Amino acid sequence: MHWRTAHVERPWKESFPYHISRGLRSGDDGDGEEDRGGEEERRPGKQIGDLLKPYLTSESKILMLGCGNSNMSEQMYRHGFEDILNVDISENLLEKLRQRLSASAPRMRWQYANASALDFPEKSFDVIIDKGTFDAMEQNKPLVAAAFREAHRTLRPGGFLISVTFNSALQRVENQLRQADDWGDCRTVVFERPAQKQRYYLHACQREQ
Ligand SMILES: C[S@@+](CC[C@H](N)C(=O)[O-])C[C@H]1O[C@@H](n2cnc3c(N)ncnc32)[C@H](O)[C@@H]1O
Repeated sequence: MHWRTAHVERPWKESFPYHISRGLRSGDDGDGEEDRGGEEERRPGKQIGDLLKPYLTSESKILMLGCGNSNMSEQMYRHGFEDILNVDISENLLEKLRQRLSASAPRMRWQYANASALDFPEKSFDVIIDKGTFDAMEQNKPLVAAAFREAHRTLRPGGFLISVTFNSALQRVENQLRQADDWGDCRTVVFERPAQKQRYYLHACQREQ
């Protein structure tokens, strides 16, 4: 399966419902691994949009890292979060998005960028959103580590990196993000699609002052 099915063909508007799985305790993914150090929260009845809203204001400067074909930015724009810069490594894809959306979302921007070598000054963004992009890059460890550092560098102090991923808090937060940089508070929400038996995580990590 993975990101094409989970995040491109079934994007934001489908809402990624998540449920408390019977028998799971906080910190226990049910995968036989102990999640030391990763606090994970399970709250039923929320959607991914609801989970993002606490981190956003209508003024937030948002970087959508590896926007792909997802309509998440479009949905966010419709909810009043308009200052979104969508970046991706595929020029072709960006051009199609620009053509499709520039009339209906005039403040939205699209730009070629390599997540591992961002051409933005430090502290440029209030919120950076990764949905599946780090996952797509993580087979190449130096590449993804550079992307983690770039996200930290371009986020303003106090800003949030939101990572929607298949990786648990132990993996994404402790083994990856915190190995690359000093992050402040990180909060994780677990959600899942029972039909696909696939668990997702939304990690929100704050850059320290
Ligand atoms: C799995 S898709 C996720 C797309 C979208 N975020 C979503 O939720 O559907 C990964 C995206 O990351 C982009 N990508 C891969 N490597 C990248 C890199 N080094 N820099 C920027 N984007 C990259 C791909 O072109 C692709 O659009």
